[in-house]
Formats: sequence, C-alpha cells, structure tokens
Amino acid sequence: MRTPPPAVVRFAQRLSSGLTRASALLAPPQARLLEVSGGVAPVMLLRAAVDTGLLEPLSAGPHTAAEVAGRLGLHADTVHRVLRGLAVYGLTSLDRRGRFSLTPTGRLLLVDHPHSMAAWIRYSTSAMVLAGWARLPQTLRDGQPAFNAATGQTIWEYLSAHPEEEAGFARTMRELTLMAAPLIVAAYPWPAEGTVCDVGGGVGAMLAEVLRAHPGLHGVLVDQPGPLGGAGEYLAARGVAERVTAVEGDLFTGFAAAADVYLLKDVLHDWDDAQCRRILSTVRSAAPAGAKVLVLEWLQEPNRAEFPVSISDVMMLAQTEGRQRSAQEFFALAADSGFIRGRVIDSGAYGIVELVAI
Ligand SMILES: C[S@@+](CC[C@H](N)C(=O)[O-])C[C@H]1O[C@@H](n2cnc3c(N)ncnc32)[C@H](O)[C@@H]1O
Repeated sequence: MRTPPPAVVRFAQRLSSGLTRASALLAPPQARLLEVSGGVAPVMLLRAAVDTGLLEPLSAGPHTAAEVAGRLGLHADTVHRVLRGLAVYGLTSLDRRGRFSLTPTGRLLLVDHPHSMAAWIRYSTSAMVLAGWARLPQTLRDGQPAFNAATGQTIWEYLSAHPEEEAGFARTMRELTLMAAPLIVAAYPWPAEGTVCDVGGGVGAMLAEVLRAHPGLHGVLVDQPGPLGGAGEYLAARGVAERVTAVEGDLFTGFAAAADVYLLKDVLHDWDDAQCRRILSTVRSAAPAGAKVLVLEWLQEPNRAEFPVSISDVMMLAQTEGRQRSAQEFFALAADSGFIRGRVIDSGAYGIVELVAI
C-alpha cells in the first residue's frame, strides 16, 4: 500500500473529526446522546464477531445467516440479528434476499487479513480492560490509576502473570504499530548506517519496518522476557532477524545498548511524569552523547479535543498510570534527564519528538 503524505492523513483526520462534531451539533441532542450512550453495542457486537469467527465465512462471498450458522455451529436466528446489527455500523451489508457481505471495514476483523484488527478488538473488550473502565468514576474522585485500583496490579504485572493475555497484547500493539509505521518511517531522516534501539519495543514491529526501509541499519530490541519471547519469530517473518539483537532490559533499572537512535513508541504514555523522567534517565545512561531519542506518540495539546489522541488519553487513564502529552511537555520532562530539544515532526499518524543526548 502506498503511504499518503502526512498532510493528507492529517487533513483526512481533521475532516472526519469536523464532520463528527458538525453532525453532533445538527442532530437533536437526545438522538445524539442515545447514539453515544449506545457505544457499548458496536463494541460488544465486534467482540462477539471476533470471538466466534462470525465473519470468517463471509470472506468467500455473500452468505445467509443460516449458512454462516451451519458452517460455525451457531444459532441461526441470533446470527441474523448480530450480522444485521453489524450492518448498522458498516461492517457488513445486508441485501433484500437476506444475504450478508463483508464491507472493506468488516474485512479488517478477519484474522488473516494483513491489516487485521481482531487482536485489538479482543484486547480492548477484554475483562481486564473493562475492569479499568468500570472503575473510572472512582478515579474521578481519587485520581488513582483505575486499572491498578481495580485489579491490585499494574497492567504490566497483570500481563506478565497471564501469558495468553500478554501475547494478545503484543499482537494488539503489533497491529496498531503496523498501521502507523509506514508514515513514521517516511517522515524521519534516518541515518543510512548505525544502530537503532527500540526501547519497550514489544515484538519489534516498529524496529522491523525501520530496518526493512534502511538496509544499512542494525537494531537492538529491548523489552521484558514475555514480549521478547515472540520477537524472534516475528522478526524472522519480516526478514530482519539476523540484523536485530534482543536485550532483556528494564525501563527503570536499566539496559546496555549503545545506539545512534533510540525509539520510545507508545511507551511514555503508559507512565506518570516522575516515571517518565526515570525512563528517560535510563535511556540516557545507555546512550552515547549525540544520540537521538525519538518519542513516537499521538501528541495532545492540553486544550484541544481531538480524535484519536484525546480518546487514547482517557484509555491511558483507564488502563495505565500515564497520559498523552504535547511536544512541549516531553521537552520539559527530558530537560531534567540529560537531553536537549530536537525536531518535532508530524508524520500524519504520530508525532515524532526528537531529543538529543548531551
Ligand atoms: C504500549 S506497549 C508499546 C510497544 C511498542 N513500542 C509498540 O509501540 O508497538 C509498551 C511496551 O513497554 C513494555 N514495558 C512495560 N514495562 C516495562 C519495563 N519495566 N521494562 C521494559 N519494558 C517494559 C511492554 O512490555 C510493552 O511492550
């Protein structure tokens, strides 16, 4: 797929947000509130579809609910009602003869689609994530991280104690990262040679795309043992395994990896300001003077409500100890940890905030 220029992506996002806001202003308030408060319906319809593989038979062409139910051993009338509900949200279409087809959006729920978002649906509707959301009213009162208070563990402790969910989370991050990676790779002036270290890099989805685009670069992937366990197979499938060294390391206690460029993609948004300063100090301890650190995140200006960043920010509230931040906020955190400001680049999907080690 060709990567659209960042300005086009940004324009499309702003247009879509603007149209949503305009339709909210035009719709009668009760109708709009009914629509928003019904948000649980599309989410749980998606969950049910992914859990049962409901849409898989439609990949071969239009089917009736009875045919889908027969293939999957499901209840036919319920299948019709759920597929029809999904049609309301544009995931399926329904013809007059009662046959359902997949729309291009619905295709992204197929597990084998190259841009599948099935793992993200599973993760975002999992019991552990919903536990954090359910605790949000209390977090409004006491400001305590919702997930930690609901489960008695940080999300990272929870995931390392539940390997299956940890693997699902790694798949989710891989899916989300692969959506943004082409734009990030295109937007930054990567060196032709040297080493790129992906800190908290999961299975190495971002690192792999940088290395594929720049054959002269080598990679170091730093993370905890769980995500690193799935990295070898993933990096081999992307054809870069022999150029990557995996290093078990901790964001807080340290890791040894000298590199020219360090990536922190969607890592700092998991942590509060004090923790971010500690993470940046850890990276600074590993980095030679002059190395660049690229903070790759959706950037949130304090007084701008915008999709997806402002919704990601409340997700961080429900699941982690972190938040989305502006470039200025990252620069302020980094100033205490041995970095000076570099460039701020809008890749279209993600902001690239460059810090330079001094
Ligand atoms: C939101 S994920 C981002 C993954 C990856 N950078 C991406 O964007 O696809 C955060 C990552 O931080 C890692 N992580 C969390 N706590 C960590 C710690 N104490 N030390 C090292 N990595 C940690 C997690 O395992 C996870 O892979």
